[in-house]
Amino acid sequence: GYDVSKLLKETGAVTYDPGFMNTAATTSAITYIDGDAGILRYRGYPIEELAQHSSFLEVSYLLIYGNLPSGTELAAFDEKIRRHTLLHEDLKGFFGGFPRDAHPMPVLSSAVSALSTFYQDSLDPFDDDQVELSTIRLMAKLPVIAAYAHKKSIGQPMLYPDNSMNLVENFLRMSFGLPAEPYEMDPVMAKALDLLLILHADHEQNCSTSTVRLVGSSNANMFASISAGINALFGPLHGGANEAVLNMLRQIQASGDPVEKFIERVKNKEDGVKLMGFGHRVYKNYDPRAKIVKSVADDVLSRLGGNDELLDIAMKLEEKALTDQYFVDRRLYPNVDFYTGVIYKAMGFPEKMFTVLFALGRLPGWIAQWREMTKDPVTKIGRPRQLYTGEPERAYPSR
Ligand code: ACO
Repeated sequence: GYDVSKLLKETGAVTYDPGFMNTAATTSAITYIDGDAGILRYRGYPIEELAQHSSFLEVSYLLIYGNLPSGTELAAFDEKIRRHTLLHEDLKGFFGGFPRDAHPMPVLSSAVSALSTFYQDSLDPFDDDQVELSTIRLMAKLPVIAAYAHKKSIGQPMLYPDNSMNLVENFLRMSFGLPAEPYEMDPVMAKALDLLLILHADHEQNCSTSTVRLVGSSNANMFASISAGINALFGPLHGGANEAVLNMLRQIQASGDPVEKFIERVKNKEDGVKLMGFGHRVYKNYDPRAKIVKSVADDVLSRLGGNDELLDIAMKLEEKALTDQYFVDRRLYPNVDFYTGVIYKAMGFPEKMFTVLFALGRLPGWIAQWREMTKDPVTKIGRPRQLYTGEPERAYPSR
């Protein structure tokens, strides 16, 4: 109901770019994406190589510090993280205050926000030692917070971290172990989770990362900025998609309908239904991360004893969609989260934890982007303009 070009003229020299489709908010040397060619690189290394040869810890180091670590550097990073896993006992009390059926994502973001109150000696964004300390604290404590959020939601006792284990193993043990019962680590599961975390570790200026940068641009501390990023990730159009995909697959399974029927509903935009896990703002070709997940899904599922029927439904949906004109015209392909849900489910995580797992993976990317922003001399407080469409000045009614 309004004329955008007229509003632009009235407002002066601004651009109007809803969803920032064509606006670069920053320069960055961390992640490169070519959405048309389906290319993703962290610090110049192709995602396929990192997925094959690196660990999540190594990739985290790469993203945060700019280079792959030497053996000694990696060992030192690992050691520092292991020393910081414990959460302040009083912070543990927070988990008891949430309703039992609370979604673990807001529990996660609340606890990360609360880190600013417990660790006040690492809040200064311009003190390199403090930034380093908050980096290590977040890397060490987020998996612990995530495991506590999970235990809270299933009503089981929380376990203390066991620092003889690495970050991923510790997280699995704290998620699935029970007190006084030895936890047997499944190496297939640990390796699969490590891989999925690598694939989620950064993705340049997506919604949650842009949120982390925007909040950080006011000189808010790292905990506050990343807590905001976790909330942005919660939405079903972003990180919440992995949970939505599994719900969609289950609904199709329960209905017993052929996948074609669901595809028809999507094409007709019936009740706004979308093919969750499909489409991406930047990839207009196959998401390279989805290709990697799909290539391991079958093997991982057969070794973990997962629900093959859901994977079959996902594969059929993909097959139908990729040859359908609606999806071809709009260049819609599976994104990273189309196949992750079936794997997380086979590991034993409830749907509500899926987006938490995404957050665990994305953490080093958020940290790296926040650190890059605070060091960039060009950084200014983020403050977009608007085109005003409301009432002109009007007289206050006399009463
Ligand atoms: N199913 C059906 N139609 C779709 C889908 C989908 N998954 N995605 C996009 N479309 C259609 C839109 O309806 C639109 O059609 P139209 O031109 O007839 O109106 C067209 O494709 C363009 O889509 P937009 O929504 O304008 O594209 P945008 O870049 O804004 O959105 C997004 C990208 C949010 C990822 C979108 O594709 C989507 O909603 N996908 C499903 C949710 C999802 O999987 N999100 C995860 C993203 S990846 C991540 O965060 C890890």
